[in-house]
Amino acid sequence: MNVSDLFAIIQSRRSIRQYQARPVSNNVLRRILDAARWAPSAHNVQPWRFAVVAGSEWRERLAVAMSEHLRADLAADGLPAGRIEQHVERAYRRVVDAPVVIMLCLSMADMPQYDEDHLQHAEWIMGVQSVAAAVQNLLLAAHVEGLGVCWRCAPLYCPDEIRDVLSLPEDWEVQGMLTLGYPAEEGASDRQSLEAKVLWY
Ligand SMILES: Cc1cc2nc3c(=O)[nH]c(=O)nc-3n(C[C@H](O)[C@H](O)[C@H](O)COP(=O)(O)O)c2cc1C
Repeated sequence: MNVSDLFAIIQSRRSIRQYQARPVSNNVLRRILDAARWAPSAHNVQPWRFAVVAGSEWRERLAVAMSEHLRADLAADGLPAGRIEQHVERAYRRVVDAPVVIMLCLSMADMPQYDEDHLQHAEWIMGVQSVAAAVQNLLLAAHVEGLGVCWRCAPLYCPDEIRDVLSLPEDWEVQGMLTLGYPAEEGASDRQSLEAKVLWY
């Protein structure tokens, strides 16, 4: 492989939100999780944790818990009932229609601990950054495997419900989730120019 092959992989990956019903084998899932494992991490602590939710009963439980939480949130915001049900149905379908959901978590258990808030906060940021690096590895590996993936932030709004459904270990902080499967759509997105993002000195 050369640099242009790698660049082509990076550039052609897109978030994919619609999936075929075709199941994803455990071997493929293990390969993409293994790619995540090789990401850099602060202090090489490897604080990423993944909960792989492929069984349809588990996805159903997750979808119900997450969409019920959303219903309560939207009702508290005063949204009309019809609109609430549209959002809730979409949130529910997102989880049950994806062949696999991977819950993205951070464990601070092995990270250095400080009494000073600013130092502890910096460690937490390093932990979040390490999880994100692992997720990007996973996204690229999944793309090469022919899978489509979308990174989703919804779990950030209902971490307790997710922890309860999956009985996650105490130290696993829910950071987001991936929905994935073989693609049933082509993704589309663009990028702003390098000039808008980089200062050269
Ligand atoms: C931290 C993070 C959270 C995201 N959350 C969502 C989400 O909740 N729903 C969604 O449809 N896409 C989500 N995305 C995907 C972005 O919308 C997507 O990466 C962006 O629009 C660029 O498109 P591309 O991935 O196809 O290049 C998220 C991406 C990241 C990195």
